[in-house]
Amino acid sequence: MKLIYISLFLCCFVFLTCCNNEAVKPKIITPAETSSDINNVTVALPDAKGVDLVTTNCATCHSLRYIEMQPDMTKKGWDKIVKKMVKNYGAPISDTVVINQIIDYLATIKGKK
Ligand code: HEC
Repeated sequence: MKLIYISLFLCCFVFLTCCNNEAVKPKIITPAETSSDINNVTVALPDAKGVDLVTTNCATCHSLRYIEMQPDMTKKGWDKIVKKMVKNYGAPISDTVVINQIIDYLATIKGKK
């Protein structure tokens, strides 16, 4: 009979120590830890010819992170993206010389060989 009490006590003890474990408590995540607004990310693009044209013309609507996170593309691929920015989204770049320099820059830093 004594043995039953002892084992009951041990069971309770094990149960309580397991369920009061600090590590089991859920971690409270504050909004600051989860915030990842893409437009609040500052990106320094690699230095190459035309970087200033990109930083002045391509960061007015969205972060330069949009460029950084693209996969490497051929010059044709970048041409398509830049022309989409101008034609579809209204990027105010009318000078074709500037447009071509931007495409050259993008193909230099993220070009597919
Ligand atoms: C007039 C505003 C505007 C300007 C200026 C602009 N973009 Fe965009 N860009 C957009 C919009 C709108 C999207 C689509 C956003 C989305 O899908 O969340 C976008 C998306 C992108 C993307 C993501 C891929 C894709 O095809 O949607 C890339 C890369 C990009 N822009 C590059 C550029 C580059 C390079 C320039 C400079 C030549 C530029 N943007 C200038 C408005 C602009």
